[in-house]
Amino acid sequence: MKKNIVLLPGDGIGPEIMESAKVVLNTVASEYNHEFNFHEHAIGGDAIDRFNNPLPEETIHACKAADAVLLGAVGGKKWDNNPSHLRPEKGLLGIRKALGLFANLRPIKGFNSLLHASPLKEEKIAGSDILIIRELTGGLYFGTPSERRENGNVVVDTLYYERHEMERIIDKAFQSAMQRKKQLTSVDKANVLESSRMWREIVDEKANVYPEVEVEHLLVDAAAMKLITQPNHFDVIVTENLFGDILSDEASVLTGSLGMLPSASIRTDGVGLYEPVHGSAPDIAGKGIANPLGMILSTAMMLRHSLGLEEEAAEIERAVNETLEQGYHTADLQLKNGKLAGTKEITDAVIENLTTKSISNSICNMYV
Ligand code: IPM
Ligand code: MG
Repeated sequence: MKKNIVLLPGDGIGPEIMESAKVVLNTVASEYNHEFNFHEHAIGGDAIDRFNNPLPEETIHACKAADAVLLGAVGGKKWDNNPSHLRPEKGLLGIRKALGLFANLRPIKGFNSLLHASPLKEEKIAGSDILIIRELTGGLYFGTPSERRENGNVVVDTLYYERHEMERIIDKAFQSAMQRKKQLTSVDKANVLESSRMWREIVDEKANVYPEVEVEHLLVDAAAMKLITQPNHFDVIVTENLFGDILSDEASVLTGSLGMLPSASIRTDGVGLYEPVHGSAPDIAGKGIANPLGMILSTAMMLRHSLGLEEEAAEIERAVNETLEQGYHTADLQLKNGKLAGTKEITDAVIENLTTKSISNSICNMYV
């Protein structure tokens, strides 16, 4: 299989962890006889510094022509006081919108060896396996007007959704629930917001199309509590952009390993952008100590969702899990009696586990 993959390393630790993603993908390519062509482009603060634009035209062009996009991270203190059109986050929001990536998938599943670092008691979090599906290209983050008025003393942001935007994300959530435990929690604020009342109506309509899926409605404030008190309760959670942004960050720390979490932003035809959840961590950038595993697991999601390479994706996930089981960990992961590793060392360990499997496979095959 020959595929074009755009790499957007971005800011902070983005470039370092992107190196790890490349090495892993090259290994998968040679093990499975694929050809992945990488094209690197600028986004975020890096693009502001080089092109005075957080999302240069050329980057949009390249992403539109690609089979999939991998992103490191954007943002950092350096650009925090920039005017809104020159902020790194504008680049990320812009590329999601330009590619029409309306569905953000954030699987929250802990690794056994890391659960002890969860802020929750281990028995509370053990066994949790949540998929948060966040609407990504509508709502408050994109509505206009969004501006200051009357000498800066009045402010307005706009929460705007069209029916079809709600329908497609809710449909995606039902489909995902069908492939999992068939339990869907829809999160809204229907006791206050008109947009939430429309959202709820659509969820109820769609529930008739997927009668096997058990649906519950939760208000966002109650959902925030329940994620902490009973994370095991959830299977698939679907919600609009702002609520999803907040709840997915809340959920991401439950497993004790924010640095491990991947995410996918996709549309219906499979094109997608994949990035770790953790962000740019500028304080440790350039030190060679960043955890690349969230990025590496994002490449697995890319292989699965955009390239249809399920086996290769599962192999990467197995290799990462084995690496942790062998005790390797970066500084952000608290592993009892582990072997502290830098970005490159832990990537090498993942590669070792990826290739070892193929050798033992071929040995097995010799005896078949
Ligand atoms: C995320 C981030 C972004 C968002 C920011 C950086 C614009 O928080 O991916 O969740 O809010 O979508
Ligand atoms: Mg966020």
